[in-house]
Amino acid sequence: MSSVLKDKHIIIGITGSIAAYKAAILIRLLVKSGAEVKVIMTPMAKQFITPLTIATLAKSPILVDFYNPENGDWNSHVDLGMWADLYLIAPASANTIGKMANGIADNLLLTTYLSAKCPVLVAPAMDLDMYAHPANLKNLETLKSYGNRIVEPASGELASGLIGKGRMEEPENIVKAVEDFFFQPAELSGKHFLVTAGPTFEPIDPVRFIGNWSSGKMGYAIAEELAKRGAKVSLVSGPTNISSTHPNITKTDVVSAEEMYQKCIDIYPNTHGAVMCAAVADYRPDSYSNVKIKRKSNDLSINLTPNKDIAAELGKIKKQEQLLVGFALETNDEVQNSAKKLQSKNLDFIVLNSLRDKGAGFNHDTNKISIIFKDGKAEHFDLKSKANVAKDIVDQIVRSTKS
Ligand code: C5P
Repeated sequence: MSSVLKDKHIIIGITGSIAAYKAAILIRLLVKSGAEVKVIMTPMAKQFITPLTIATLAKSPILVDFYNPENGDWNSHVDLGMWADLYLIAPASANTIGKMANGIADNLLLTTYLSAKCPVLVAPAMDLDMYAHPANLKNLETLKSYGNRIVEPASGELASGLIGKGRMEEPENIVKAVEDFFFQPAELSGKHFLVTAGPTFEPIDPVRFIGNWSSGKMGYAIAEELAKRGAKVSLVSGPTNISSTHPNITKTDVVSAEEMYQKCIDIYPNTHGAVMCAAVADYRPDSYSNVKIKRKSNDLSINLTPNKDIAAELGKIKKQEQLLVGFALETNDEVQNSAKKLQSKNLDFIVLNSLRDKGAGFNHDTNKISIIFKDGKAEHFDLKSKANVAKDIVDQIVRSTKS
Protein backbone atom coordinates (compact mmCIF):
# COMPACT_ATOMS: atom_id res chain seq x y z
CA MET A 1 0.00 0.00 0.00
CA SER A 2 1.32 3.42 -0.92
CA SER A 3 1.73 5.12 2.43
CA VAL A 4 1.75 8.65 0.99
CA LEU A 5 -1.98 8.40 0.15
CA LYS A 6 -3.02 6.63 3.33
CA ASP A 7 -5.96 8.44 4.99
CA LYS A 8 -5.72 11.34 2.54
CA HIS A 9 -9.11 12.93 1.86
CA ILE A 10 -9.62 13.28 -1.87
CA ILE A 11 -12.69 14.63 -3.63
CA ILE A 12 -12.94 13.40 -7.19
CA GLY A 13 -15.01 15.49 -9.56
CA ILE A 14 -16.23 13.64 -12.65
CA THR A 15 -17.58 15.59 -15.62
CA GLY A 16 -19.39 14.52 -18.77
CA SER A 17 -16.65 13.07 -20.88
CA ILE A 18 -16.17 9.67 -22.45
CA ALA A 19 -13.07 9.39 -20.25
CA ALA A 20 -15.41 9.11 -17.24
CA TYR A 21 -14.99 5.34 -17.50
CA LYS A 22 -11.32 5.84 -16.56
CA ALA A 23 -12.46 7.57 -13.38
CA ALA A 24 -13.66 4.16 -12.16
CA ILE A 25 -10.13 2.77 -12.40
CA LEU A 26 -8.70 5.94 -10.90
CA ILE A 27 -11.00 5.69 -7.88
CA ARG A 28 -10.20 2.00 -7.46
CA LEU A 29 -6.46 2.75 -7.42
CA LEU A 30 -6.78 5.66 -4.98
CA VAL A 31 -8.95 3.65 -2.58
CA LYS A 32 -6.53 0.73 -2.83
CA SER A 33 -3.73 3.11 -1.88
CA GLY A 34 -5.52 3.98 1.34
CA ALA A 35 -7.11 7.30 0.33
CA GLU A 36 -10.59 8.23 1.50
CA VAL A 37 -12.58 9.30 -1.51
CA LYS A 38 -15.77 11.27 -2.04
CA VAL A 39 -17.10 11.71 -5.55
CA ILE A 40 -19.05 14.55 -7.08
CA MET A 41 -20.50 13.97 -10.55
CA THR A 42 -21.97 16.57 -12.85
CA PRO A 43 -25.47 15.63 -14.12
CA MET A 44 -23.92 14.90 -17.54
CA ALA A 45 -21.26 12.60 -16.05
CA LYS A 46 -24.02 10.21 -14.97
CA GLN A 47 -24.77 9.62 -18.69
CA PHE A 48 -21.24 8.29 -19.17
CA ILE A 49 -20.82 6.05 -16.13
CA THR A 50 -23.34 4.89 -13.59
CA PRO A 51 -23.42 6.25 -10.06
CA LEU A 52 -23.70 2.64 -8.87
CA THR A 53 -20.32 1.70 -10.34
CA ILE A 54 -18.64 4.81 -8.98
CA ALA A 55 -20.26 4.68 -5.53
CA THR A 56 -19.34 1.00 -5.15
CA LEU A 57 -15.69 1.65 -5.98
CA ALA A 58 -15.54 4.84 -3.90
CA LYS A 59 -17.22 3.07 -0.96
CA SER A 60 -19.51 6.04 -0.49
CA PRO A 61 -22.59 7.43 -2.29
CA ILE A 62 -21.81 9.88 -5.06
CA LEU A 63 -22.92 13.50 -4.83
CA VAL A 64 -24.64 15.30 -7.71
CA ASP A 65 -27.29 17.61 -6.35
CA PHE A 66 -27.17 20.46 -3.88
CA TYR A 67 -29.62 18.51 -1.75
CA ASN A 68 -31.41 15.18 -1.66
CA PRO A 69 -34.92 15.89 -3.02
CA GLU A 70 -36.28 12.88 -1.06
CA ASN A 71 -35.35 14.10 2.39
CA GLY A 72 -33.90 17.60 1.97
CA ASP A 73 -30.46 16.45 3.15
CA TRP A 74 -28.08 19.29 2.16
CA ASN A 75 -24.77 18.46 0.45
CA SER A 76 -22.67 21.25 1.84
CA HIS A 77 -20.02 22.27 -0.68
CA VAL A 78 -18.36 24.28 2.09
CA ASP A 79 -18.00 21.18 4.33
CA LEU A 80 -16.77 19.14 1.38
CA GLY A 81 -14.16 21.76 0.60
CA MET A 82 -13.06 21.76 4.26
CA TRP A 83 -12.86 17.95 4.41
CA ALA A 84 -10.63 17.58 1.38
CA ASP A 85 -6.84 17.48 1.27
CA LEU A 86 -7.07 17.54 -2.52
CA TYR A 87 -9.78 18.12 -5.12
CA LEU A 88 -9.06 16.09 -8.24
CA ILE A 89 -11.23 16.84 -11.25
CA ALA A 90 -10.82 13.92 -13.63
CA PRO A 91 -11.96 13.88 -16.33
CA ALA A 92 -12.36 17.65 -16.65
CA SER A 93 -14.34 18.58 -19.77
CA ALA A 94 -13.76 21.79 -21.73
CA ASN A 95 -17.14 22.98 -20.45
CA THR A 96 -16.23 22.51 -16.76
CA ILE A 97 -12.75 23.97 -17.25
CA GLY A 98 -14.36 27.03 -18.85
CA LYS A 99 -16.78 27.43 -15.97
CA MET A 100 -14.06 26.99 -13.36
CA ALA A 101 -11.94 29.63 -15.04
CA ASN A 102 -14.86 32.06 -15.00
CA GLY A 103 -16.34 31.43 -11.58
CA ILE A 104 -19.56 29.87 -12.82
CA ALA A 105 -21.21 27.78 -10.15
CA ASP A 106 -24.22 25.97 -11.60
CA ASN A 107 -23.61 22.50 -10.15
CA LEU A 108 -22.20 20.94 -6.98
CA LEU A 109 -18.85 20.14 -8.60
CA LEU A 110 -18.38 23.84 -9.39
CA THR A 111 -19.67 25.30 -6.12
CA THR A 112 -17.30 22.94 -4.31
CA TYR A 113 -14.48 24.13 -6.57
CA LEU A 114 -15.18 27.74 -5.67
CA SER A 115 -15.39 27.00 -1.92
CA ALA A 116 -12.49 24.55 -1.69
CA LYS A 117 -9.50 25.75 0.27
CA CYS A 118 -7.49 22.67 -0.64
CA PRO A 119 -5.24 22.37 -3.70
CA VAL A 120 -6.92 21.39 -6.97
CA LEU A 121 -5.60 19.01 -9.60
CA VAL A 122 -7.28 19.03 -13.02
CA ALA A 123 -6.99 16.25 -15.60
CA PRO A 124 -8.50 17.56 -18.86
CA ALA A 125 -10.14 15.21 -21.35
CA MET A 126 -11.44 16.33 -24.73
CA ASP A 127 -11.02 16.07 -28.45
CA LEU A 128 -7.80 17.47 -29.91
CA ASP A 129 -9.42 20.50 -31.54
CA MET A 130 -11.32 21.42 -28.41
CA TYR A 131 -8.13 21.06 -26.40
CA ALA A 132 -6.11 23.18 -28.81
CA HIS A 133 -8.74 25.93 -29.07
CA PRO A 134 -7.31 29.19 -27.74
CA ALA A 135 -10.34 29.57 -25.46
CA ASN A 136 -9.57 26.27 -23.74
CA LEU A 137 -5.83 26.93 -23.54
CA LYS A 138 -6.53 30.35 -22.09
CA ASN A 139 -8.89 28.81 -19.51
CA LEU A 140 -6.21 26.30 -18.49
CA GLU A 141 -3.71 29.15 -18.10
CA THR A 142 -6.28 30.94 -15.93
CA LEU A 143 -6.66 27.85 -13.74
CA LYS A 144 -2.87 27.67 -13.39
CA SER A 145 -2.83 31.32 -12.36
CA TYR A 146 -5.29 30.38 -9.57
CA GLY A 147 -2.71 27.87 -8.34
CA ASN A 148 -4.49 24.80 -9.76
CA ARG A 149 -2.27 22.08 -11.15
CA ILE A 150 -2.96 20.49 -14.50
CA VAL A 151 -2.23 16.87 -15.35
CA GLU A 152 -1.50 17.42 -19.02
CA PRO A 153 -3.56 15.21 -21.31
CA ALA A 154 -1.74 12.58 -23.33
CA SER A 155 -1.48 12.33 -27.10
CA GLY A 156 -2.90 9.33 -28.86
CA GLU A 157 -6.04 7.95 -30.33
CA LEU A 158 -9.15 9.77 -29.16
CA ALA A 159 -12.72 8.50 -28.80
CA SER A 160 -13.55 10.36 -32.01
CA GLY A 161 -11.03 8.26 -33.91
CA LEU A 162 -8.79 11.28 -34.39
CA ILE A 163 -5.23 11.22 -33.15
CA GLY A 164 -3.79 14.06 -31.12
CA LYS A 165 -3.47 15.67 -27.69
CA GLY A 166 -6.54 15.63 -25.50
CA ARG A 167 -7.10 12.22 -24.01
CA MET A 168 -7.12 12.08 -20.26
CA GLU A 169 -3.88 10.83 -18.78
CA GLU A 170 -4.01 7.16 -17.78
CA PRO A 171 -5.31 6.55 -14.23
CA GLU A 172 -1.96 5.11 -13.07
CA ASN A 173 -0.22 8.33 -14.13
CA ILE A 174 -2.86 10.51 -12.46
CA VAL A 175 -2.33 8.52 -9.25
CA LYS A 176 1.39 9.16 -9.67
CA ALA A 177 0.68 12.91 -9.97
CA VAL A 178 -1.46 12.72 -6.82
CA GLU A 179 1.32 10.87 -4.99
CA ASP A 180 3.90 13.41 -6.14
CA PHE A 181 1.60 16.13 -4.88
CA PHE A 182 1.39 14.58 -1.41
CA PHE A 183 4.98 13.49 -1.21
CA GLN A 184 6.84 15.77 1.10
CA PRO A 185 10.55 15.44 1.50
CA ALA A 186 11.37 14.53 5.05
CA GLU A 187 12.51 18.06 5.84
CA LEU A 188 12.62 17.42 9.60
CA SER A 189 14.37 14.06 9.53
CA GLY A 190 17.04 13.87 12.22
CA LYS A 191 15.16 16.43 14.34
CA HIS A 192 13.44 15.63 17.63
CA PHE A 193 10.52 17.63 19.02
CA LEU A 194 8.57 17.55 22.25
CA VAL A 195 4.85 18.26 21.94
CA THR A 196 2.43 18.66 24.84
CA ALA A 197 -1.26 18.10 24.21
CA GLY A 198 -4.62 17.82 25.90
CA PRO A 199 -5.79 19.05 29.28
CA THR A 200 -4.38 18.22 32.69
CA PHE A 201 -6.55 16.87 35.48
CA GLU A 202 -5.76 18.01 39.00
CA PRO A 203 -7.10 15.48 41.49
CA ILE A 204 -9.22 16.62 44.44
CA ASP A 205 -10.03 13.18 45.85
CA PRO A 206 -10.12 9.64 44.33
CA VAL A 207 -13.15 10.49 42.17
CA ARG A 208 -12.94 14.20 41.40
CA PHE A 209 -10.60 16.53 39.63
CA ILE A 210 -10.27 20.03 38.21
CA GLY A 211 -9.98 19.87 34.43
CA ASN A 212 -10.75 21.81 31.26
CA TRP A 213 -12.35 21.27 27.86
CA SER A 214 -9.20 20.73 25.83
CA SER A 215 -9.69 17.76 23.46
CA GLY A 216 -6.03 17.40 22.51
CA LYS A 217 -6.90 17.51 18.79
CA MET A 218 -4.61 20.43 17.96
CA GLY A 219 -1.57 19.00 19.77
CA TYR A 220 -2.02 15.57 18.22
CA ALA A 221 -2.38 17.12 14.76
CA ILE A 222 0.92 18.97 15.29
CA ALA A 223 2.65 15.80 16.53
CA GLU A 224 1.33 13.95 13.48
CA GLU A 225 2.48 16.66 11.06
CA LEU A 226 5.97 16.86 12.58
CA ALA A 227 6.20 13.05 12.39
CA LYS A 228 5.03 13.00 8.75
CA ARG A 229 7.86 15.38 7.90
CA GLY A 230 10.37 12.98 9.37
CA ALA A 231 10.86 14.33 12.91
CA LYS A 232 10.99 12.10 15.94
CA VAL A 233 8.24 13.29 18.28
CA SER A 234 7.88 12.83 22.04
CA LEU A 235 4.22 13.51 22.70
CA VAL A 236 3.34 14.15 26.33
CA SER A 237 -0.41 13.98 26.56
CA GLY A 238 -2.94 14.72 29.24
CA PRO A 239 -6.16 12.63 29.30
CA THR A 240 -7.74 12.52 25.81
CA ASN A 241 -9.70 10.07 23.68
CA ILE A 242 -7.27 10.30 20.78
CA SER A 243 -4.70 7.75 19.75
CA SER A 244 -1.61 8.42 17.70
CA THR A 245 -0.43 5.81 15.25
CA HIS A 246 2.53 7.33 13.44
CA PRO A 247 5.67 5.27 14.04
CA ASN A 248 7.78 8.42 14.67
CA ILE A 249 5.62 9.39 17.66
CA THR A 250 6.38 8.12 21.15
CA LYS A 251 3.55 9.00 23.47
CA THR A 252 3.66 9.35 27.24
CA ASP A 253 0.34 9.68 29.02
CA VAL A 254 0.18 11.92 32.06
CA VAL A 255 -2.67 13.18 34.18
CA SER A 256 -1.61 16.19 36.22
CA ALA A 257 0.41 19.30 35.42
CA GLU A 258 3.13 18.16 37.82
CA GLU A 259 3.52 14.86 35.93
CA MET A 260 3.56 16.72 32.62
CA TYR A 261 6.24 19.07 33.97
CA GLN A 262 8.45 16.17 35.13
CA LYS A 263 8.29 14.47 31.72
CA CYS A 264 8.91 17.68 29.79
CA ILE A 265 11.86 18.76 31.87
CA ASP A 266 13.45 15.32 31.26
CA ILE A 267 12.80 15.29 27.51
CA TYR A 268 13.34 18.92 26.43
CA PRO A 269 17.14 19.16 26.86
CA ASN A 270 17.63 16.43 24.23
CA THR A 271 15.36 17.94 21.59
CA HIS A 272 15.57 20.55 18.85
CA GLY A 273 12.43 22.18 20.15
CA ALA A 274 9.09 21.95 21.90
CA VAL A 275 5.54 22.89 21.01
CA MET A 276 3.52 23.58 24.14
CA CYS A 277 0.00 22.91 23.03
CA ALA A 278 -1.41 21.45 26.26
CA ALA A 279 -4.02 23.36 28.22
CA VAL A 280 -2.19 22.99 31.51
CA ALA A 281 -4.17 23.75 34.66
CA ASP A 282 -2.76 26.86 36.28
CA TYR A 283 -3.79 25.68 39.76
CA ARG A 284 -4.21 22.43 41.66
CA PRO A 285 -5.88 21.71 45.01
CA ASP A 286 -3.23 22.30 47.68
CA SER A 287 -4.13 19.06 49.39
CA TYR A 288 -5.45 15.76 48.13
CA SER A 289 -8.02 13.82 50.10
CA ASN A 290 -7.32 10.07 50.09
CA VAL A 291 -10.99 9.41 50.70
CA LYS A 292 -13.98 10.75 48.80
CA ILE A 293 -15.04 14.10 50.25
CA LYS A 294 -18.51 13.70 51.73
CA ARG A 295 -21.36 16.06 51.02
CA LYS A 296 -22.19 18.38 53.91
CA SER A 297 -24.75 21.11 54.23
CA ASN A 298 -22.21 23.93 54.69
CA ASP A 299 -19.99 25.47 52.00
CA LEU A 300 -16.91 23.66 50.87
CA SER A 301 -13.74 25.53 49.95
CA ILE A 302 -10.86 24.01 48.11
CA ASN A 303 -7.61 25.95 48.37
CA LEU A 304 -5.70 26.10 45.13
CA THR A 305 -2.00 26.44 44.71
CA PRO A 306 -0.27 27.42 41.45
CA ASN A 307 1.19 24.76 39.17
CA LYS A 308 4.54 25.25 37.51
CA ASP A 309 4.33 27.01 34.18
CA ILE A 310 5.93 24.29 32.06
CA ALA A 311 6.51 26.50 29.03
CA ALA A 312 8.17 29.17 31.19
CA GLU A 313 10.36 26.56 32.92
CA LEU A 314 11.50 25.23 29.55
CA GLY A 315 12.08 28.84 28.48
CA LYS A 316 14.56 29.20 31.36
CA ILE A 317 16.65 26.20 30.27
CA LYS A 318 16.27 26.78 26.54
CA LYS A 319 19.58 26.63 24.67
CA GLN A 320 20.50 29.00 21.87
CA GLU A 321 19.84 26.41 19.17
CA GLN A 322 16.52 25.21 20.61
CA LEU A 323 13.05 26.31 19.62
CA LEU A 324 10.13 26.91 21.97
CA VAL A 325 6.62 27.46 20.66
CA GLY A 326 3.68 28.32 22.88
CA PHE A 327 -0.06 28.65 22.52
CA ALA A 328 -2.33 31.33 23.86
CA LEU A 329 -6.08 30.94 24.17
CA GLU A 330 -7.47 34.37 24.80
CA THR A 331 -10.86 35.94 25.18
CA ASN A 332 -9.81 39.61 25.13
CA ASP A 333 -6.81 41.84 24.23
CA GLU A 334 -5.61 38.82 22.31
CA VAL A 335 -2.52 40.17 20.58
CA GLN A 336 -1.19 42.15 23.57
CA ASN A 337 -1.71 39.24 25.97
CA SER A 338 0.00 36.78 23.67
CA ALA A 339 2.92 39.13 23.07
CA LYS A 340 3.39 39.37 26.86
CA LYS A 341 3.39 35.57 27.17
CA LEU A 342 5.88 35.28 24.35
CA GLN A 343 8.31 37.53 26.29
CA SER A 344 7.72 36.13 29.77
CA LYS A 345 8.06 32.48 28.69
CA ASN A 346 11.03 33.13 26.37
CA LEU A 347 9.19 31.68 23.36
CA ASP A 348 10.29 31.95 19.72
CA PHE A 349 6.73 32.40 18.55
CA ILE A 350 3.26 31.99 19.95
CA VAL A 351 0.12 30.64 18.31
CA LEU A 352 -2.95 32.60 19.26
CA ASN A 353 -6.50 31.25 19.23
CA SER A 354 -9.22 33.62 20.17
CA LEU A 355 -12.37 32.22 21.71
CA ARG A 356 -14.14 35.09 19.96
CA ASP A 357 -13.56 33.37 16.60
CA LYS A 358 -16.33 30.97 15.68
CA GLY A 359 -14.98 27.45 15.14
CA ALA A 360 -11.71 28.14 16.99
CA GLY A 361 -10.36 26.70 20.21
CA PHE A 362 -11.55 23.82 22.36
CA ASN A 363 -13.14 20.69 21.01
CA HIS A 364 -13.69 21.95 17.46
CA ASP A 365 -12.32 20.15 14.42
CA THR A 366 -11.37 23.52 13.01
CA ASN A 367 -9.21 26.35 14.28
CA LYS A 368 -8.36 29.93 13.36
CA ILE A 369 -4.96 31.10 14.45
CA SER A 370 -2.54 33.97 14.33
CA ILE A 371 1.18 33.51 14.81
CA ILE A 372 2.86 36.28 16.80
CA PHE A 373 6.61 36.74 16.55
CA LYS A 374 9.22 38.22 18.89
CA ASP A 375 9.44 41.43 16.86
CA GLY A 376 5.70 41.99 17.34
CA LYS A 377 4.82 41.02 13.77
CA ALA A 378 1.80 38.77 13.33
CA GLU A 379 0.57 36.43 10.62
CA HIS A 380 -3.17 35.75 10.49
CA PHE A 381 -4.64 32.58 9.02
CA ASP A 382 -8.14 31.59 7.86
CA LEU A 383 -10.41 29.10 9.58
CA LYS A 384 -9.10 25.63 8.63
CA SER A 385 -9.25 22.00 9.72
CA LYS A 386 -6.87 21.37 12.64
CA ALA A 387 -4.77 19.14 10.34
CA ASN A 388 -4.26 22.09 7.97
CA VAL A 389 -3.61 24.49 10.86
CA ALA A 390 -0.93 22.02 12.02
CA LYS A 391 0.65 22.26 8.55
CA ASP A 392 0.85 26.07 8.83
CA ILE A 393 2.40 25.83 12.30
CA VAL A 394 4.90 23.17 11.23
CA ASP A 395 5.80 25.23 8.13
CA GLN A 396 6.74 28.01 10.55
CA ILE A 397 8.66 25.54 12.75
CA VAL A 398 10.61 24.43 9.67
CA ARG A 399 11.43 28.07 8.89
CA SER A 400 12.43 28.82 12.50
CA THR A 401 14.34 25.62 13.29
CA LYS A 402 17.97 26.38 13.86
CA SER A 403 20.08 23.78 12.05
O1 C5P B 1 -0.24 31.67 30.34
P1 C5P B 1 -1.04 30.70 29.58
O2 C5P B 1 -1.47 29.49 30.37
O3 C5P B 1 -2.18 31.25 28.80
O4 C5P B 1 0.02 30.21 28.48
C1 C5P B 1 -0.31 29.26 27.54
C2 C5P B 1 0.94 28.57 27.05
O5 C5P B 1 1.74 28.13 28.15
C3 C5P B 1 0.62 27.29 26.31
O6 C5P B 1 1.66 27.08 25.37
C4 C5P B 1 0.62 26.24 27.40
O7 C5P B 1 0.84 24.93 26.88
C5 C5P B 1 1.73 26.72 28.28
N1 C5P B 1 1.55 26.44 29.70
C6 C5P B 1 2.37 25.53 30.32
N2 C5P B 1 2.25 25.28 31.65
C7 C5P B 1 1.32 25.93 32.38
C8 C5P B 1 0.47 26.85 31.78
C9 C5P B 1 0.60 27.08 30.42
O8 C5P B 1 3.21 24.94 29.64
N3 C5P B 1 1.24 25.67 33.68
